Amino acid sequence: MAQEDVFKKLVSHCKEYGFVFPSSEIYDGLGAVYDYGQNGVELKNNIKQYWWQSMVLLHENIVGIDSAIFMHPTIWKASGHVDAFNDPLIDNRDSKKRYRADVLIEDQIAKYDEKINKEVAKAAKRFGDSFDEAKYRATSPRVLEEQQKRDALHERYSKAMNANDLTELRQIILDEGIVCPISGTRNWTDVRQFNLMFATEMGSTADGAMKVYLRPETAQGIFVNYLNVQKTGRMKIPFGIAQIGKAFRNEIVARQFIFRMREFEQMEMQFFVRPGTELEWFKKWKETRLKWHEALGFGDDMYRYHDHEKLAHYANAATDIEFNMPFGFKEVEGIHSRTNFDLSQHEKYSGKSIKYFDPELNESYTPFVIETSIGVDRMFLSVLCGSYKEEVLENGETRVVLKLPAALAPVKLAVLPLIKKDGLPEKAREIMDDLKFHFNCQYDEKDSIGKRYRRQDAIGTPYCVTIDHQTLEDNTVTLRNRDTMEQSRVSIDELNGIIADKVSITSLLKTLQ
Ligand code: GAP
Repeated sequence: MAQEDVFKKLVSHCKEYGFVFPSSEIYDGLGAVYDYGQNGVELKNNIKQYWWQSMVLLHENIVGIDSAIFMHPTIWKASGHVDAFNDPLIDNRDSKKRYRADVLIEDQIAKYDEKINKEVAKAAKRFGDSFDEAKYRATSPRVLEEQQKRDALHERYSKAMNANDLTELRQIILDEGIVCPISGTRNWTDVRQFNLMFATEMGSTADGAMKVYLRPETAQGIFVNYLNVQKTGRMKIPFGIAQIGKAFRNEIVARQFIFRMREFEQMEMQFFVRPGTELEWFKKWKETRLKWHEALGFGDDMYRYHDHEKLAHYANAATDIEFNMPFGFKEVEGIHSRTNFDLSQHEKYSGKSIKYFDPELNESYTPFVIETSIGVDRMFLSVLCGSYKEEVLENGETRVVLKLPAALAPVKLAVLPLIKKDGLPEKAREIMDDLKFHFNCQYDEKDSIGKRYRRQDAIGTPYCVTIDHQTLEDNTVTLRNRDTMEQSRVSIDELNGIIADKVSITSLLKTLQ
């Protein structure tokens, strides 16, 4: 099945099984805003818990905060968001559609890469085992020609972006012959900058209300509280502050479901270090964060780093962790070495010293910062993409199963009486009443047992137990494993011992040590 079809199916699966609904659906929805349903919220909470505990429980020198969404507007001036949090936009006059100029060009670069990779794959097939890919890439005239075009475009694009040269961005689009995917024409407007922050008004005074912003990232709430936490927590550098919370961006090109949203959630950690040590810490956090992703078991080849060539003016290193989504490798998390830019800016704009006194060096300095920043919703999407499987069974039927990491699954155990009589429901309730204190259980007595298994597969429940007449005699149940579909007879007393460990976030966290 084509990957776009898989993605379409995944989106409808999310709605059908209570993971994600379009926001305000009965009013025809609101662009790029989504609500999480009964299963979605559990999965989302488990992702947040996995992240939070990996930061705050596993690191003695990382603590959390929860700062407000509204902040003093000067914060956004200091951080650079008022002046520079922009996307370069271009309109097609025929289709009246608006695009991000940088995305159009990046898609064009990806097309060159695709062409080169196809060429290499064809040659690999032709030459079989004797194929030397590196040599082929270095010598094939066709590959070299495409590679040269790609590199030239890339260099020109990076230069234009670094120089903020909007005229050049437009010229690149024209020179590359990039057409509007809707109208198919090259009738483009000029490129303009568009600020992504949502603004609103706070209070009402004789002079008018104050313009405030919905935060576009949670990080600034950490920076402006950094000294409060350092002092009250008696934190010594190096130390980190973690936060999970909503962020808002007026994204122009909102696409790919919950990949790019206007209201979303971030999990960010700012790690404060001595100046001069930041690149060592950057390397360490790059590795730590990749390990966190890989521990979920989707396969290490599903992830890759993408080192930034165009660095934000305040960064001296940056990388993305990308996940292989059905629409290609895409950024899920960013790791940035942000120097001392943010803290210095807040010192400058607030007029207050927020320097750290280092007792070991006996000197004061503005700490440097390594940031790890991951979108909850994007992580949620990557987990669903990695888990969604359509399997053909031995009897020819197909089943849709979410092979979610057990620790993240919304429901851990389904408790199913075989029939609705003979005391089986009562026995099932007894099991629920005992196990519900340990993990999330769901009771279901409606429809055939096969249909009930399918429903649980579809929401990713790792275990089901069936209560039958034998249960009443010997206190055993049938335990079914979601992935293997194997069934075994186990004693009710053993259930907690068998399941609790496998579905707990603690077990997942232990694999990180
Ligand atoms: N404080 C740094 C920062 O915000 P970013 O690369 O702009 O960096 C970090 O965002 C992460 O937030 C991204 O890797 C992505 O997972 C998530 N994110 C950003 N914009 C998003 C959007 N419009 N919708 C969903 N997630 C988004």
